[in-house]
Amino acid sequence: MSVGEPIDRVDGRLKVTGRATYTADQNIPNLVYGVLVTSAIAKGRIASIDTSAAEHVPGTLAVLTHKSRLKLAKDPTEVDESSPADRALQLLQDDRIFYGGQPIAIAVATTLEAAFDAADRVSVRYEAQKPSVTIETSLPTEYVPQKMGGAGDPAESRRGDPDQAFGTSYVHLKEVYTTPFQTHNPLEPHSTIAMWEGPRKLTLYDTSQGIFGDRKRVATLLGLQPENVRVVSLYIGGGFGSKGPTWSHTLICAMAARHVNRPVKLVLRRPQMFGPVGCRTETRQTISAGAAQDGRLTALVNDTMTHTSVMDQFVESATLPTRMLYSTPNNRTVQKLVRSDIGTPSYMRAPGEAPGTFALEVAMDELAYRLKMDPLELRLKNYAERDEDKNEPWSSKSLRECYRQGAERFGWSQRKPEPRSMRQGNKLVGWGMATSVYPARRSPAAARARMYPDGRMLVEAGSQELGGGTYTIMTQIAADALGVPVSRVTFRLGDTRYPQTPVSGGSQTAASTGTAVYEAAKALKAKLDAMGGNWNNQPYVEAEVSTERNKEAKSLSMYSFGAQFAEVHVDADLGQIRVNRMTGVFGAGKILNAKTGRSQFMGGMVWGISFALYEHTTYDTRLGRIVNNNLAEYHVPTNADVGSIDVSWVEEKDDHVSPIGAKGIGEIGITGAAAAVANAVYHATGKRVRDLPITPDKLL
Ligand code: MOS
Repeated sequence: MSVGEPIDRVDGRLKVTGRATYTADQNIPNLVYGVLVTSAIAKGRIASIDTSAAEHVPGTLAVLTHKSRLKLAKDPTEVDESSPADRALQLLQDDRIFYGGQPIAIAVATTLEAAFDAADRVSVRYEAQKPSVTIETSLPTEYVPQKMGGAGDPAESRRGDPDQAFGTSYVHLKEVYTTPFQTHNPLEPHSTIAMWEGPRKLTLYDTSQGIFGDRKRVATLLGLQPENVRVVSLYIGGGFGSKGPTWSHTLICAMAARHVNRPVKLVLRRPQMFGPVGCRTETRQTISAGAAQDGRLTALVNDTMTHTSVMDQFVESATLPTRMLYSTPNNRTVQKLVRSDIGTPSYMRAPGEAPGTFALEVAMDELAYRLKMDPLELRLKNYAERDEDKNEPWSSKSLRECYRQGAERFGWSQRKPEPRSMRQGNKLVGWGMATSVYPARRSPAAARARMYPDGRMLVEAGSQELGGGTYTIMTQIAADALGVPVSRVTFRLGDTRYPQTPVSGGSQTAASTGTAVYEAAKALKAKLDAMGGNWNNQPYVEAEVSTERNKEAKSLSMYSFGAQFAEVHVDADLGQIRVNRMTGVFGAGKILNAKTGRSQFMGGMVWGISFALYEHTTYDTRLGRIVNNNLAEYHVPTNADVGSIDVSWVEEKDDHVSPIGAKGIGEIGITGAAAAVANAVYHATGKRVRDLPITPDKLL
């Protein structure tokens, strides 16, 4: 059995030797280069755009703007609401500007240098209006959406009478927690190569986390049959949600390729990652919590405000953990939106749960201090034995065991409760903890498995490899189901020619595509067993299966949980914070590969450190433009910023979530992590910072 074993990535050697072909690495004959021109204002219109100087750059094939009147089959600002990753796109159709960095032109040339040069020579005159990019200035547009994307949860929830209970609680708090705009920065920028084979047939190499959704969106907008659009995404250099939807540049690249009648490659420049391809919205969460003297929660309320754009709706569902993480008879949440002049916010690793667990888990910490109770004990006191929001039992929940093991591994019992009580010389030492939570999702998927007479197995499913280990775990699942060693199996993904699978988002790939691969391999094995070695000269034996929606999800609530503990050292004079060590213990179903699994959890935890201390997309509020749109000033932690990370998990057996027992682990690691760090900073310093990131100036 290989599942669970820490086997090396099957694509590891290709990656470290530079032979894994990422989107922009595809070697396409006759290829030319596109470079986007983006808006220098955040709101208004293009008064005039002059491309004559650009067109004179030698090698330039075309400079396309809204004046080029490139035709589309459908209005790109209309979105299919049943397809939550569809975004309103800006495809050079008119002169309106909705946000800074909006694509307004593309230069196409025979060399990349010429394309850069031409793009730089496009001269634009704007009629600018004053933009609004803060919650305050956007408040007149406030509204409560009908529902939230993804699972389509309602935007409001209520049980009991929290207002009445809050007023009569033994202790209560009402505090505002804010998290800033953040921008996904995978090392690999978004890239597309568009290649037409005749006027109605298109191949797209695209950095897509969801090749089938991408195909549908592109086909719809260009008026093509979906089967005549092939999307290929063999390796992705990080996605984090930003490559889930189809964004404007993909379509603009395809439109430009059709115009110049050559394959066009378009790679976003790093500053172009800030705006047109999504972000995590700023959140403002007002939490009201009341508790009885013994610590039992009497009321819990989360009133959340986030941004969406003026042309589209995205809800960062930060209230979700408040609804279900703790037992409380009185609970209310509401998600509000304001419309700002920004690129539409989108999914970023644990959308909703990441900022949502920051606010909730810091509020729980504050409540613990007011009750003079250990923060871990407070959580155990309010342990939810069932999902009180959906009023359903859990499919499985090992959170109690995660708390126990995490506390033991970290040494939590040695903690002195008083803030500033664990000083070491000039360093203020703080210990904090928080809870992790993320839904366990599974969508219908398909896969096929094949055996050749020489014994080789080939397994294929659409899917995508974001770097998390999809090639590897699928190979393991197939090998075990077929009863052969991993070395006999080749798994291929990332092509719409393979069976259809869902978007690699919402941590659902392992459970969804993994189940399809498992069922296909089992079906092939049954076929082979029935044949008893009688091949009848067939070139191969094949089985293909499609899985259904998980019916058990109708009556069971499915989540992964975890406990995180952090130790920070804060310089008493300078306020500099170092996260010395973290411990995370997770209950997330079957962990399919101990090596890639550990990396997934750890990556999430490191991002939690980044969330707590570093990341902040900063707008110039007068101009509505992002000022730190580069990796020098958009801070993320380096190795030197991250202490030791101790990752482990509780062996959890859950037959309800998926036949392979996997719940999915792509996102849970970031949840609770920022709160654990923030709570440790409070314990170290006695200063409660409710406004992320916790930069040294906030401690002085
Ligand atoms: Mo993830 S933010 O659902 O790709």
